[in-house]
Amino acid sequence: MTTVIERLVTGWTSATDATVQMLVRACSVRSLSERFAAHRLTPDVVLTRHRHWLLAGDAVVAMAGARPVGLLNLVDDPLRPRTTDLALLVVDDVQRRGVATGLLAHALGGPARAGWTVRATVRADNRAAVALLRTQALGPVRLASSDAGELTYEIAIPA
Ligand SMILES: CC(C)(COP(=O)(O)OP(=O)(O)OC[C@H]1O[C@@H](n2cnc3c(N)ncnc32)[C@H](O)[C@@H]1OP(=O)(O)O)[C@@H](O)C(=O)NCCC(=O)NCCS
Repeated sequence: MTTVIERLVTGWTSATDATVQMLVRACSVRSLSERFAAHRLTPDVVLTRHRHWLLAGDAVVAMAGARPVGLLNLVDDPLRPRTTDLALLVVDDVQRRGVATGLLAHALGGPARAGWTVRATVRADNRAAVALLRTQALGPVRLASSDAGELTYEIAIPA
């Protein structure tokens, strides 16, 4: 039997207005709402009111050919040294195919982020994000806080 290993992501690029727009338009209301821990966010609402968050900080897009399929944002905390806030969004039709895992390894796996703490806040009912954060390979993870249906995880990347 022959095993075919599919490589979905072909490259990485910095987010632009154009890639963010394509990505958001390919996402469901559910995924967009989970990304912002909010309710009923349509692509139009996200692009009108929340676009700046998708371009914030280190904003890395995973490309599958000419198509943007995932976005990672890292916004460094000005009050806590070597601490950064993580957010992820992967388009629905390629979820569970390793895009977020690849984004994490690409953006956080190198020496520049060694010794950093990565913080992510997700809704408690966001099973995909909770599972991803608990099983990622960057470093040990702990539940830092749980409040009003939101969980904040902290990943300690080894120095
Ligand atoms: C959460 C999210 C980013 C995961 O992206 P992804 O590319 O599908 O994740 P990966 O394929 O890299 O999955 C890695 C691991 O995460 C866990 N996981 C991902 N999706 C899951 C799901 N639907 N159910 C259970 N576990 C899941 C699994 O442990 C998975 O490993 P496995 O497939 O070997 O079992 C994606 O579902 C998404 O964009 N959701 C909407 C936005 C969001 O919730 N963002 C996070 C808050 S900032």
